[in-house]
Amino acid sequence: MRRKLVVGNWKMNGSKEMTASLCKSIISGLTQTGADIAVCVPYVYLSDAANALKGTHLQLGSQNVADQTSGAYTGEISAAMLKEFDCTYAIVGHSERRSYYGDSNESVAARFCQAQKQDILPILCVGETLEQRENDQTFSVIDEQLDAVLAAAGIEAFKSAVIAYEPVWAIGTGKTASDEQAQEVHKYIRERFAKQNPEIASQLQILYGGSVKADNAKGLFAMADIDGGLIGGASLDAEGFLKIYQAAN
Ligand code: 13P
Repeated sequence: MRRKLVVGNWKMNGSKEMTASLCKSIISGLTQTGADIAVCVPYVYLSDAANALKGTHLQLGSQNVADQTSGAYTGEISAAMLKEFDCTYAIVGHSERRSYYGDSNESVAARFCQAQKQDILPILCVGETLEQRENDQTFSVIDEQLDAVLAAAGIEAFKSAVIAYEPVWAIGTGKTASDEQAQEVHKYIRERFAKQNPEIASQLQILYGGSVKADNAKGLFAMADIDGGLIGGASLDAEGFLKIYQAAN
């Protein structure tokens, strides 16, 4: 049985003060349940968040990780550095990274491998744009995004990784994929892995991301292949985020 997982992606939002207060509010509303919960905060607030979360069930993640181990890569943050701040997760290949900062499939694969070298669980984001969906390219785009990582890391690597299906057209738009639309793609992804290794496929957590809110989370999380969510905007409000977490229980 796969555990459900709810991850907040704060993106470029927050402050020192907000990090402390939002973590505190989330923690105070946590119940001991069958689902996992994490927040991926901006790099500069990892230390504050790590202190706030110590000894609680709320786990920590970063929003990216360098594609190199160390050295002359100005502005980058290595997986070893993230490990020092108790990061359990690192998002890689978010569509905002892919489209605004040029993170290619190959660089996303390298970031995925770097995270795993430090025992950080990569949350690999995949998903199509509206134009690609309308041109019937959803599955081929996802194939390409997954193939690059499979080629670099191998199928076994997915024993220690999470996938997030985030249709680009649903991110920050208020337009969620319907339960069935999301399930269709999740099922496709799982079956794709099952062709190579049924056991890994059946254990793989596949999250949905894109305008998940308290009122649509339950329906999405009830689908057979949706194992939780990667939450943007709604993770900035403790009450709403906790409601989404409760929907995963
Ligand atoms: P929203 O929940 O704000 O649509 O963002 C989704 C997302 O990009 C999470 O990584």
